[in-house]
Amino acid sequence: MSSDVSAPADPNPSPHSSEDAAFGTIASILQAETGIELTKGKRGLAISRLSRRLRDLGVRDLNAYCDLLSGPKGAAELQEMILLLTTNVTRFFREPHHFDALRSAILPDLMEKARAGAKVRIWSAGCSSGEEAFSLAMTILDAFPEAASWDVRILATDIDRNVIDVGRRGRFRISEEEKLAHPVLEDFTERVTGDNHEVCKVVRSMVQFGCLNLQHPWPMQGKFDVVLCRNVVIYFSQETQQRLWPRFANVMQDGGHLIIGHSERVTGPAVKRFKPAGVTYYELSA
Ligand SMILES: C[S@@+](CC[C@H](N)C(=O)[O-])C[C@H]1O[C@@H](n2cnc3c(N)ncnc32)[C@H](O)[C@@H]1O
Repeated sequence: MSSDVSAPADPNPSPHSSEDAAFGTIASILQAETGIELTKGKRGLAISRLSRRLRDLGVRDLNAYCDLLSGPKGAAELQEMILLLTTNVTRFFREPHHFDALRSAILPDLMEKARAGAKVRIWSAGCSSGEEAFSLAMTILDAFPEAASWDVRILATDIDRNVIDVGRRGRFRISEEEKLAHPVLEDFTERVTGDNHEVCKVVRSMVQFGCLNLQHPWPMQGKFDVVLCRNVVIYFSQETQQRLWPRFANVMQDGGHLIIGHSERVTGPAVKRFKPAGVTYYELSA
């Protein structure tokens, strides 16, 4: 790791400035690998998560942790660090207006296509533990029960392997309030014990989980009809976001839809191709 040689060395560095520098190094490593920006407001939370890791590893301080990241075990530790510093908050039918728009405006044409034998592909990019992808599958099956026998698939990917494992297991705590708010949860899950529920087989069969870092090359072939990337780019810098939008356009069908989170916007050169079609969703034009 290179040190900054542009400023003269402080003859009496305080422990704080040395910790600040180490935190800065960690933040730039994280941003380069994942796109995630550790802004000032996130520093406290990040330090507390890292402190736990340092304790578990018996590592003295953030400077020693930076040495570990740049040493022979650095690549493996970087993956552990990413697991610590991602924010995985999600829930079934989060931002319900998107599922309403899917049901009324987007799915009817797509399901017509599927009924006629074409494939329909949907990508939940940055899916966390899978509630978003399962909510999609439930929305489709509720409106078009025959879709189970058509070629309709949802790819659910995230950088964090732990949340992908949760999605693959397909077991979630679902409260009675959530079921009242979203009755399809009652139809498409089975209670195991207490609040623990398992997502039904037919829903799970439509969703395929995989680990994927959005900053790395994407191995998927074929184009998506719908991409949901919600509450993911909010953690990225504007430049990183603006590099990502055209990449989504490249893997989408013309006329396909991109759905993003409530506080996110498509900006930069890709605005020419993504035409607003509703609340935080866009239609791709050629
Ligand atoms: C707040 S969750 C959003 C989950 C879901 N889309 C939703 O709206 O409920 C953000 C997810 O983005 C994932 N993520 C962050 N950076 C990523 C990257 N570079 N590549 C893939 N996933 C990433 C995190 O691991 C996390 O699970």
